[in-house]
Amino acid sequence: MKEIKIYDSKQTVAEEFSVFFKELAASHKTFNVALSGGSTPKIVFDYLAENFEETIDWSRINFYWGDERCVLPTDEESNYKMTVTHLLSKVAVPEANIFRVQGENDPISEAVRYGAVLAKNLPNVDGVPKFDLVILGMGDDGHTASIFPHEIELWDATENCEVAIHPDSGQKRITLTGKVINNAAVVAFLVTGGSKAEKVKEILKEVENYRDYPATLVQPTTGDLVWFLDADAAKEIN
Ligand code: 6PG
Repeated sequence: MKEIKIYDSKQTVAEEFSVFFKELAASHKTFNVALSGGSTPKIVFDYLAENFEETIDWSRINFYWGDERCVLPTDEESNYKMTVTHLLSKVAVPEANIFRVQGENDPISEAVRYGAVLAKNLPNVDGVPKFDLVILGMGDDGHTASIFPHEIELWDATENCEVAIHPDSGQKRITLTGKVINNAAVVAFLVTGGSKAEKVKEILKEVENYRDYPATLVQPTTGDLVWFLDADAAKEIN
């Protein structure tokens, strides 16, 4: 079932999502999650590290990424680096539970390699790797993971992962494709800030140009999609 949760601030979104994450993780023996980059996850990671260091069993969680920038793992732009700084360096996650995208590698071979990592390690349902949770952000342009409107066809790619190109910077990215995202048991969008309000309205109300946005295509087959919004992002739908 699609659920839309609206909170007063970005901080509250991060806190409520952290509780959601903790409870969902606790209900699984092994919990496979795909993380996202972006500003809201950063606060989530801080909150999780600060408040749930002891009460989440980190050894049962396997960390993957929904997308990564093709940069060194030490680069400020690296989603992996952001996660290490804000979460993984602060909690007891075994190294073996961390499956990073190797952004420093040749992008085309890395997309193939990471797709194979998913195929090997995740449960396979209907021939596609299945995450317990995929966390997504949405850009001001309606992109999600690293599938941007100008390359929306990547959503329907046959591979698990693809190489995408950021429309402004030209930076290459590795991204999960639609079939993996929509095969997840649960997908959660973390979307905050007034600059997202127009696209949130178009997508959730299915009006205007909603068909042009990759975020519209997020429709997990389980139906279990949760939008975590702050009041600014939700201001056009109230
Ligand atoms: C990335 C992303 C991307 C992000 C959105 C929203 O690595 O860039 O995973 O899809 O989630 O751009 O980012 P904000 O939360 O910062 O607005």
